[in-house]
Amino acid sequence: MQRRQLLRVLGGTAIAAAGVGAAGIASLPTSMPAEAVAAWQGPGAYTGGDARRHVLSYAMLAPHAHNLQSWSVDLSEPDVIMLYCDLERLLPHTDPLSRQVLISHGTFLELLDLAARELGLRADIVLFPQGVFHAQALDARPVARIALSPQPGVARDPLFAHVRARHTNRSAYDATRLVPASAVDAMRRAAGPDVTVGFVGTDQTALAAQHREIAIQAWQIELTTPRTVMESMHLLRVGTAEVATHRDGISLLDPLPVALDRLGMLDRKAPPEGQNLEVQLKGFNASVATTPGFWWLNTANNTRAAQIAAGRAYVRAQLAATGLGLSFHPLSQALQEYPEQAALYQAIHALTGAASLGHTLQMWVRVGYAPAKGPSPRRPLQALIRS
Ligand SMILES: Cc1cc2nc3c(=O)[nH]c(=O)nc-3n(C[C@H](O)[C@H](O)[C@H](O)COP(=O)(O)O)c2cc1C
Repeated sequence: MQRRQLLRVLGGTAIAAAGVGAAGIASLPTSMPAEAVAAWQGPGAYTGGDARRHVLSYAMLAPHAHNLQSWSVDLSEPDVIMLYCDLERLLPHTDPLSRQVLISHGTFLELLDLAARELGLRADIVLFPQGVFHAQALDARPVARIALSPQPGVARDPLFAHVRARHTNRSAYDATRLVPASAVDAMRRAAGPDVTVGFVGTDQTALAAQHREIAIQAWQIELTTPRTVMESMHLLRVGTAEVATHRDGISLLDPLPVALDRLGMLDRKAPPEGQNLEVQLKGFNASVATTPGFWWLNTANNTRAAQIAAGRAYVRAQLAATGLGLSFHPLSQALQEYPEQAALYQAIHALTGAASLGHTLQMWVRVGYAPAKGPSPRRPLQALIRS
């Protein structure tokens, strides 16, 4: 959701009517609670002990659709991490095939691998050790079995340096600063050989305009389809106390919606409408209008293994971009497999060339320069460990 704009207009009116002054709103705590983002300090230097917990402390900083953090690990076998998907943390309406959830397990596995290398460990990753998930749904079987073993001389990866600085950035970008060809090349190299990537900059005016238009239309569909927008509404964490308690989902810390929520005037049980809907659409459109480039990643097929590979490649590209001072903001709506998006799904696959290759578009993002963005919440590591 485009949380910043949420209820700004409506909120002003309602709060005035409720007699809450600007001073009252200004006094509400709006910064991210320290405990919610404590994980971003990392585990510190490794001084012995269970290396699995050390590498997991980095893996859990991975990007995940809706910040759901559906990773669940079993540590009962020595030196082995068995990775499962927490089936309570899915997005059945916006991610009906759990494709994005599996991409989000790929991002986790990649950061885990990078962190293991830093410790001189080899991470042998076997995907789907008890069989591959069905194309339509996940189940209780593991996503991956990761065996860690010492390997002197294992290659470290310079991308690891950017793991704690990588953050999704949804704000306006500097429209006047184009993404240089050298950065596009660095992102392509970081993504690696398992995926096909593409890029369109605003110097390609007509093409970039088509990207913008699809992003805007797809966002409007998501926001005006009750069951898909409600999936986001249920994941809203409003105000510092809720953000600190849940440490997942969509953090909303702007003073107006927080004030409305305290007054019992923020209706999270109904889709946004009227002025509130308008404000959210305009906010998204304004951000998209500032975008100097669109970058995407597709895979030759849409197997579960390809989805994991897409996640690994995505986070590698984002790490490379982070190192170059560039921000990423995924635009997943048109890539989603629910019927209302079908026409835009086809349109973005055609526009990026994925359709003519018979490929599946796995990630599509805005990329550009923007003021730095702070970290998003993470649950404590212990919450991910099932045994
Ligand atoms: C598969 C996938 C899809 C995503 N889609 C969107 C999206 O459509 N819009 C968005 O704002 N962020 C999207 N994100 C970014 C997540 O919301 C973000 O990773 C999460 O909130 C954690 O924040 P962080 O990346 O700053 O750590 C996506 C991330 C992944 C891995």
